[in-house]
Amino acid sequence: MSFNRDIKIAPSILSADFANLGAEIRAVEDQGCDWIHVDPMDGHFVPNLTIGPNVVAAIRPHVKTFMDVHLMIAPADPYIEGFAKAGSDMITVHAEAGPHLQRSLQSIRDLGVKAGVALNMTTPLSVIEYIMDTIDMVLIMTINPGFGGQKFNHSMVEKVRQTRAMIGNRPIHIQVDGGIDPNTAPLVAEAGADVLVAGSAVFRGGSVDNPQAYGQNIAAIRTAANAAL
Ligand code: DX5
Ligand code: ZN
Repeated sequence: MSFNRDIKIAPSILSADFANLGAEIRAVEDQGCDWIHVDPMDGHFVPNLTIGPNVVAAIRPHVKTFMDVHLMIAPADPYIEGFAKAGSDMITVHAEAGPHLQRSLQSIRDLGVKAGVALNMTTPLSVIEYIMDTIDMVLIMTINPGFGGQKFNHSMVEKVRQTRAMIGNRPIHIQVDGGIDPNTAPLVAEAGADVLVAGSAVFRGGSVDNPQAYGQNIAAIRTAANAAL
């Protein structure tokens, strides 16, 4: 995958039908999404439990685009190899999830996987200042992680803008996650985000039997974001 800053829509399958994940992934990809965003949670770093490497491996054959795995797990290091072997294209670890962030990111790259770093809302950008050459993506959280359907925090728009300035010409994606919909997408796109995660705003109103709603939702977010550029 060659690097670009075009707007990419990454449906979070946290809002999909968990009894039907393969078909849900095929449906949102057929309907025009760019990446598939997967949210493993450990019930400890965040107050929710979701999926592990076995499920990620099971959905891998259904993902034709790019499988973006956002680990909400602390410590993350013991699980990185498992999620890499499950077929992740990108693994994102939280900066708050361990004491040696550069080691975690390097270990992801050593497994042949792209490395992302997620920052909770209260975590300053300075934590990545000296390790920019080890990062393929910065994920700016726009909610407290753990659940879909939460309200976007508008203070994070300025954080995205500062991230964009810090990155300069480096080939590092800026992802936003939480409360992204056609109203908030233009704000983060204009500030410099290129990967927009959306769970409830993609899956609402649709199903594998009514996938056109997914297509309309994806198009609405993309159109709103591109209009702000
Ligand atoms: C939350 C997850 C998100 C979540 C976003 O902790 O990281 O990816 O699914 O859901 P929405 O788009 O509904 O806020
Ligand atoms: Zn996520």
